[in-house]
Amino acid sequence: MIETQAQARAADAADPLRVFRARFALPDGVIYLDGNSLGPLPRATQARLDTALRSEWGEGLIRSWNDADWIGAPARIGGKIARLIGAAATEVVVADSTSVNLFKLLSAAVRARPGRRVILTETGNFPTDLYIAQGVAASIPGIEARALPRETVADAIGADVAVVMLTHVHYKTAARWDMAAITARAHAAGALALWDLSHSAGAVEVDLRACGADLAVGCGYKYLNGGPGAPAFLFVAERLQAALHSPLSGWMGHASAFDFSDDYHPAGGVGRFLCGTPPVLGLTALEVGVDIALEADVAEVARKSAALWDLFAARVEARLARYGLDLISPRDPARRGSHVSFTHPEGYRIMQALIARGVIGDFRDPDVLRFGLTPLYLGYEDIWRAVEILHEVMQEEAWLSQAERAPGRVT
Ligand SMILES: Cc1ncc(COP(=O)(O)O)c(C=O)c1O
Repeated sequence: MIETQAQARAADAADPLRVFRARFALPDGVIYLDGNSLGPLPRATQARLDTALRSEWGEGLIRSWNDADWIGAPARIGGKIARLIGAAATEVVVADSTSVNLFKLLSAAVRARPGRRVILTETGNFPTDLYIAQGVAASIPGIEARALPRETVADAIGADVAVVMLTHVHYKTAARWDMAAITARAHAAGALALWDLSHSAGAVEVDLRACGADLAVGCGYKYLNGGPGAPAFLFVAERLQAALHSPLSGWMGHASAFDFSDDYHPAGGVGRFLCGTPPVLGLTALEVGVDIALEADVAEVARKSAALWDLFAARVEARLARYGLDLISPRDPARRGSHVSFTHPEGYRIMQALIARGVIGDFRDPDVLRFGLTPLYLGYEDIWRAVEILHEVMQEEAWLSQAERAPGRVT
């Protein structure tokens, strides 16, 4: 139990992950609690991109597709991400955005379960997951996107469900689904299970194979630190790969793209879910972030995430009990991810006041203050100081001088 700032400092000194902090270019005077939204810049990314620009692109020109293995990057980096999520290297590729990958996999899943008409998900899932499910339903006759309250989802997995699509760690509350249990329920009903790992990969232990998961997607720019708009990843279990077909039958998913034949023949494995030319510079940056994540022990990352979380919650309870911040994240480490969220009617302005004082978290409509707790570059003393600054903001009512939220601004 950490009960003083000195103890927090001592915990940092004893932290086996402390060495990773120096790998990130974090600005002075900032406590960054938003790595679950956009991970910070790894120092090595700058040099790596410089090489990619000057040498691979500048000098190598088109030869670099082969010489620098640009063409192999989606599968190579996918194979690395696979190790973070309990998949085989041949089950993951990096491609497109999470939204586009959702579209490809949901469409494929629905078509692989003829006679079943429902894509089942939860109300309040991340908007793009809901919108893409609605888009898939609109594009395939007879399909319905059905969103139900979280507590009723498991019992609603019936004979009409083609695919259950859930976000493993909820983007607002951090509540974590029991992946193995829900996947088993889906399979018992004859449905497929698709998991959005955007708030899980690189943050909590994920074992897709052990859970029997069928399909998964996730972001590259959050805990994988791939940079703004980094390409996303997708997972298709080996046993399903031959039976599932991408609705976006682009040439990069062709069995032999450089034969330039007129007819589409999908690649044999997960590569059939590639579509167009890979974004090489984005992939290059993502690979640096993924390589750093692979150096850390996943169990140690999960352990420290839980400890940072407990400290944050305990300090808010100790220092801010009278300020009306309500914890909405589960207390059980097995039931939550790596961010902690509170509601407050003035959440937006409080977050702006915090950001003005160097503590960067984010706000989610209508009243959620969200703090990402990222073990690779945050320490216990950071958490201690962040909550002290939150206390100052509340005590001084510093948020009163912040402007109300303007339409169109990223929150
Ligand atoms: C659960 C979840 N899915 C998907 C996304 C974003 O998808 P995309 O990268 O396509 O914008 C996010 C972004 O925050 C997210 O939290």
